[in-house]
Amino acid sequence: MNLKSIKIGKFETENNLFFAPLAGFSDFAMRDICIGYGAGLTFTEMVSCKGLLFGNENTENLLYCSPSEKIKCAQIFGNDPVIMRRAIEETPLSNFDVIDINFGCPMPKIFNNGEGSALLQNPALAEKIVYECSKSDKPITCKIRIGIKDGEFLTEDFVKAICAGGAKLITVHGRTRDKIYAGEPNYEEIAKAKNSSIVPVVANGGIFCKEDADKMQSLTGADGVMIARGALEKPWIFAEILGKDVKVCKKTLINEHIDRLLTRYDDRTVSIIFRKQLCLYLKGEKNSADLKQKLFTYKDTRSIKNAIDEFFS
Ligand SMILES: Cc1cc2nc3c(=O)[nH]c(=O)nc-3n(C[C@H](O)[C@H](O)[C@H](O)COP(=O)(O)O)c2cc1C
Repeated sequence: MNLKSIKIGKFETENNLFFAPLAGFSDFAMRDICIGYGAGLTFTEMVSCKGLLFGNENTENLLYCSPSEKIKCAQIFGNDPVIMRRAIEETPLSNFDVIDINFGCPMPKIFNNGEGSALLQNPALAEKIVYECSKSDKPITCKIRIGIKDGEFLTEDFVKAICAGGAKLITVHGRTRDKIYAGEPNYEEIAKAKNSSIVPVVANGGIFCKEDADKMQSLTGADGVMIARGALEKPWIFAEILGKDVKVCKKTLINEHIDRLLTRYDDRTVSIIFRKQLCLYLKGEKNSADLKQKLFTYKDTRSIKNAIDEFFS
């Protein structure tokens, strides 16, 4: 990978390896861990602009940041340009440096509401959204997919529209909506996005090791890469790509992850919300099936820590 910083408005990222927004996973603790291993920029999971403005969603925890986040970047979704701008200006989002707009979410609840990836079919509205949100004076970045159905790509026109709206950076998840998260990313479409864009393009999809990141950049010409599931399983992937020699002790990583969560949540809540992430940390560990089962019965973090101690001893 050609490592470099990327400018987003007046901000400059530490490097061009980004940790993706991931609903249910990319909270302050996980973002802090990824930054510790060298991620150059992180994003909150997507939050609803309507939920923020009309107060019917518990977004306080979703938008909580750790001090390690030098550039605070929140991801939002919605489809009403004015509501989205107001949400950026009036709600906890006003504390963020950069706002990323989700134009990629494939989930029916979002798509059928004309939000997320549904907007790929309406570049004129997407342009208006980016234009209106840019009036907030915060740099607006966008995360897009390459289309709705495989073979019917919407990338180039969409990229041109959001550039015209004033987007400062575009992340391209190289899959169509119908692929959800499966299969090889389409490098050619990401390269087309790069060639149609007047702002930096970050490539996303299927990066699980250094070689995947190298391949992604060389086949697409993208300015940087964004890593999602690969970083949940192996947050030290950023260090690997940066060429840093890190010795990873999973037991310590797990214990420290729990301790981070305990700074924000009570013990019982942590024992519940950490389960999914812990299963990802244990992926590939031999004979971990029993432990994974048991995790779902523990109601306090001491039991989890004891079980982890025993497993790795
Ligand atoms: C559980 C899960 C939650 C996700 N949540 C979001 C989200 O909130 N916002 C977003 O833009 N993408 C979200 N994504 C998509 C990822 O950011 C990323 O684009 C996708 O996983 C492809 O990257 P990967 O192949 O490196 O995993 C989510 C993906 C997964 C698996």
